[in-house]
Amino acid sequence: MALENLRAMLSKAAAGRYGVGAFNILDYNSARAVVQAAEELGAPVIIQTSAKTVTFWGCRTLVGWIEDLAGRAKVPVALHLDHCKDLGLIRECIETGWTSVMIDASAKPFEENLALTRQVVEMARPKDVTVEAELGAIVGVEDEIHVKEQDSHLADPRQALEFCMQVQLDCFAPAIGTAHGIYKGEPKIAYHILEEVATSTGVPIALHGGTGLSDEVFRRCIALGCAKVNISTQIKYAFIDGFVGYHNAHHTQYDPLKVIQAQFDEMKKAIAGNIKLFGSAGKG
Ligand code: 13P
Repeated sequence: MALENLRAMLSKAAAGRYGVGAFNILDYNSARAVVQAAEELGAPVIIQTSAKTVTFWGCRTLVGWIEDLAGRAKVPVALHLDHCKDLGLIRECIETGWTSVMIDASAKPFEENLALTRQVVEMARPKDVTVEAELGAIVGVEDEIHVKEQDSHLADPRQALEFCMQVQLDCFAPAIGTAHGIYKGEPKIAYHILEEVATSTGVPIALHGGTGLSDEVFRRCIALGCAKVNISTQIKYAFIDGFVGYHNAHHTQYDPLKVIQAQFDEMKKAIAGNIKLFGSAGKG
């Protein structure tokens, strides 16, 4: 199938109260693990690329891989640019084949965030590329964006409604108390904010900071309107652990393809577990 944008994928998920997994890939092997896990489970899926990963491989290389994988898949696959502050890179991704982008201007004052998001929506619409934006500040490190605990703040539901009335988004990421990276303690999720924002805006919500949340937290957030569920750190761990684990168990064997296969298996297992948990199996 050709790559899809997020519009139909997320409106179906929001209506059906399930979450579409959005997995941050690192290379061809991780992208292959995402598509194969989704295909085996009959699930729609979102391949996410951080701005750093895009810069590392280059747009054309990444799009070539993903179009090839999606073209052979029987489930809907979207290619989404995760947290990006750079309008030049967003434009390049839109022009080379991404079907969805996230503008992260959440560190800016409200009006500036809104103006930059509008600019991206105008850039994206002619190519039918969907847009996600963030309000509030999600704690932790994602790509080159570092938000310290003391600088994090939750989204204000009234501002969230105002934001979504001023710009037409396909997906909205209000900060609700989740964090990027590994949780240091029990996360305190502001379910009341999530519920109010999802209901008042009617926009499918993205749940950031998926790694380390309990099954119960995922289920509750999805039931309240999180239609897109982001997982990055868990893939990074599976990527490294798959490699190291195989090498430690076979340390005299230098067979790179076996190591690559072990990494693939580890990542696919993690991705499949999430797809099942988010309820999107069989929805593709
Ligand atoms: P984790 O790294 O905590 O899984 O968060 C992923 C994310 O939200 C990417 O934007």
